[in-house]
Amino acid sequence: MCGIVGFIGDSSASSVIMDGLTRLEYRGYDSAGISLLEKGKIEIVRSVGKLVNLQESIKEYDFTATAGIGHTRWATHGKPSFVNAHPHKSNSLSIVHNGIIENYLSLKEELMGKGYEFHSETDTEVIAHLIDVSYDGDLKGAVQGAVKRLEGSYAIAVISEKEPDKLVFARKDSPLVIGVGNGEMMAASDIPAVLSRTRNFVFLEEGDVAVLTKDSYEIYDENGILAEREIKRIDWNPVMAEKSGYRHFMQKEIFEQPRSIIDTIRGKYRLETGDVYLDITDEMRDSLEKIDRIVIVACGTSWHAGLIGKFYLERFAKLPVEVDIASEFRYRDLVMNERVLLITISQSGETADTLSALRIVKKMGSSVLSICNVVGSTIARESHSVIYTHAGPEIGVASTKAFTTQLASLFVFALYMARIRGLMGEDQARKYIEELIAIPEKLEKVLSQDDDIEELAKTYKDSKDFLYLGRNVNYPIALEGALKLKEISYIHAEGYPAGEMKHGPIALIDKDLPVFVIAVKGSVYEKAVSNIEEVKARDGIVIAVCTEGDKNLPKICDHVITVPESCEELSVFLTVTATQIFAYHCANLLGLDVDQPRNLAKSVTVE
Ligand code: G6P
Repeated sequence: MCGIVGFIGDSSASSVIMDGLTRLEYRGYDSAGISLLEKGKIEIVRSVGKLVNLQESIKEYDFTATAGIGHTRWATHGKPSFVNAHPHKSNSLSIVHNGIIENYLSLKEELMGKGYEFHSETDTEVIAHLIDVSYDGDLKGAVQGAVKRLEGSYAIAVISEKEPDKLVFARKDSPLVIGVGNGEMMAASDIPAVLSRTRNFVFLEEGDVAVLTKDSYEIYDENGILAEREIKRIDWNPVMAEKSGYRHFMQKEIFEQPRSIIDTIRGKYRLETGDVYLDITDEMRDSLEKIDRIVIVACGTSWHAGLIGKFYLERFAKLPVEVDIASEFRYRDLVMNERVLLITISQSGETADTLSALRIVKKMGSSVLSICNVVGSTIARESHSVIYTHAGPEIGVASTKAFTTQLASLFVFALYMARIRGLMGEDQARKYIEELIAIPEKLEKVLSQDDDIEELAKTYKDSKDFLYLGRNVNYPIALEGALKLKEISYIHAEGYPAGEMKHGPIALIDKDLPVFVIAVKGSVYEKAVSNIEEVKARDGIVIAVCTEGDKNLPKICDHVITVPESCEELSVFLTVTATQIFAYHCANLLGLDVDQPRNLAKSVTVE
């Protein structure tokens, strides 16, 4: 969703904020704007479209301000337009906002009754006037009063001409972090925005209001009490959030997967004994020994990881596992108790539906374990324990390395559960760990086929539809492969359980429909071959992802992408990477914006 950056210090605020917004553009990119305290007066520059337009507009000015706020927008209330672009203004103050104010209409009527004029269709302008109406020389107090009247979610940044030496922030259900610098302070929706200026961060909690001056920060909790908050040092380095010679972040992130998997599993096993270690609390360790069911909840790509997690946990730990989409789960009549473990999976740790599911379940007495990539994110903070994926910042909107590190974490967790439940001996655990350790090198072999896969993409990039088929552990890969393709190339693609093909999708098959089949060696290989034969019998085009050395499939398929042999459970790392590369090249060859596909956002902080 929207990205917010605020800066106060001695440097050029417009440079710092624009740099920060560039790194947050993945959160929203339909318009952008900046508000500066320029010689005591608020100056606002806004542009519709990508940030590059704002960068152009800002060149016309010679700003010297050392304090300000900026915003990159993903529209919720009001279409992307100049008037709806943030920042918004009310008399002497200016504001940017991420989130949705649900009671904005009634507040708007009230404020109009008090003489305020509205210039945009946004819910944000309501907050600006609401702060202004009660302003009596204390910006922090006015913000505290205003946010109490808001229903919904918000992260806001406010500046005022009347108090030019400070920035005020507030959050509820939308992320905000404070970057603590040396003689300068920053706040942003996400860490990478200001990572080039500090590695020290304070994560605001629900209902917090923060006041930043260039040398200090103060945080007041939801009851208005001055709060102590720990500074966390983030070990990501700024280079991790750069393209480093790759054409797109997504391409870089696909190629980073061997490294990010190594980073994720490091320190989690001991080969000699087959033991698995998790950095979880003692309470979580105790509850894991008592559970008799697991529910996994997530959205998007993380949900696909959950489907594979189910496969691992059922196979290794013999535990019944349900996997649910968070936005569905949260509205059902849930049957949860202290013997059920909830696992939430979230790259960002901020996805609204996943967070809401977590909160509901916590109240029902279940333990919550999360698999998350962002230290200090809301989901990470509110879970009883967290298994961190160490993917580093993922900037491309379409998730790649976060997915494979989630798989690695789920695999390790399933081994852990199998061991503590006495279901897996030392030798077998060692064998699986060895297989896992071998995956990064095998992945390099998949990555080395980049050129061949690009050629394949050249042949099929103009297709109107794609079908992706897989069975068993390959079914979630079919879903993920199809999702990647539609997200970034806008080609309609459906992932289907291969066995269901006969119950509908087979009607679509003709000479123009490319069908991607995940057909690696394993327990369902023969079944996949039968599906391929059925597609070929109806003149469909088959692109199979198969195991190196398979002599049969190259003869019956139109194209094959080969992946090194591995155990069935871990082949998913290799097959999904082949589908990621294919989707990437289709989108790139079509000249589309790979990292910022239309209408999508990286971090979905609204329902
Ligand atoms: C958005 C992103 C997806 C992501 C999903 C869940 O839709 O575009 O890439 O898979 O949210 O996000 P999470 O951060 O919870 O994994």
